[in-house]
Amino acid sequence: MSIKRIGVLTSGGDAPGMNACVRSVVRTALYHGIECYGIRRGWNGLITGDIIRLDEKNVSHTINRGGTILYTARSKEFMTVEGQQKAVSTCKFLGLDGIIAIGGDGTFRGAQALSRHGINVIGIPGTIDNDISCTNYCIGFDTAANTAIECIDKLRDTMQSHERCSVVEVMGRNAGYLAMYVGLAVGATAVLVPEEPIDFERDVIEKIRQARFNGFTHYMIVVAEGAGSAAGIAAQIKDAIDLDPRVTVLGHIQRGGVPSGRDRVNATKMGYLAVELLRAGKNNRIVCTHDGNFTDVDIEEGLNMTKSIQQMEVDVLAAMTGI
Ligand code: F6P
Repeated sequence: MSIKRIGVLTSGGDAPGMNACVRSVVRTALYHGIECYGIRRGWNGLITGDIIRLDEKNVSHTINRGGTILYTARSKEFMTVEGQQKAVSTCKFLGLDGIIAIGGDGTFRGAQALSRHGINVIGIPGTIDNDISCTNYCIGFDTAANTAIECIDKLRDTMQSHERCSVVEVMGRNAGYLAMYVGLAVGATAVLVPEEPIDFERDVIEKIRQARFNGFTHYMIVVAEGAGSAAGIAAQIKDAIDLDPRVTVLGHIQRGGVPSGRDRVNATKMGYLAVELLRAGKNNRIVCTHDGNFTDVDIEEGLNMTKSIQQMEVDVLAAMTGI
């Protein structure tokens, strides 16, 4: 079947680079003479028919913009069969030959449900958490990491002047990819992630002590939100060694900002590939990337995969914080 008209949406937490991806979908579609519609506010837009026609002008000068011009949401209604049936009706009414959904695993579960109703769907991983197992890389991770690194570098200046301990909470939901990467990049005293068992005395208190013995008088503890709260960790440190740590929760600032070059280029490649997959008659796939190669995997297979923090990152962190 030749594809004439497609829809694109962003869903779940926004991530820098989503606009670059939408732009790429639109431009690739237009390049092949395919009409492209933006579905707004995630899967909700497919239920309510909240759509706009996208052309070159809508997406021009968006490659460098954070957020998502299509808005985003986490749709509870779409998780119900009734919601999905409404979405299917919208697709049929509008004559959409395929949907490209940019987001995280919640987005892909929605995509899978829609594809079971006979709609062609392609998912593109976009989440700062980088926690989609079938891909090494998710759009937004690089920008979010750089934002967190910049913030922590600033914190370090004042922590150094006052000879303090800082506990910084980094996003990531249940995953520690962002915290581990950021912790390595800022030269943290300790990094706590949900994937690694935590022995507080060994992994935090001893690291601070060792740093002190090595002549340091300020300490940077990075904690993934899935491994505990910065406030809780700070209170435990205070109890154990009578430091008075300052607490910083980086929060949603990590989700905004101008996307990095890496995010823009990966988003552009992924958007292109998603349209090519629809053109090739493929359905129910997630675009993914491994070591610079871009490929695709069945959504169900992708959702059932597991990944974890690279052992090398764990080993390097041990060496960097263990002397
Ligand atoms: O999944 C992206 C993410 O930013 C997580 O890191 C975080 O736990 C969550 O979304 C926050 O969600 P909300 O924007 O609904 O507060």
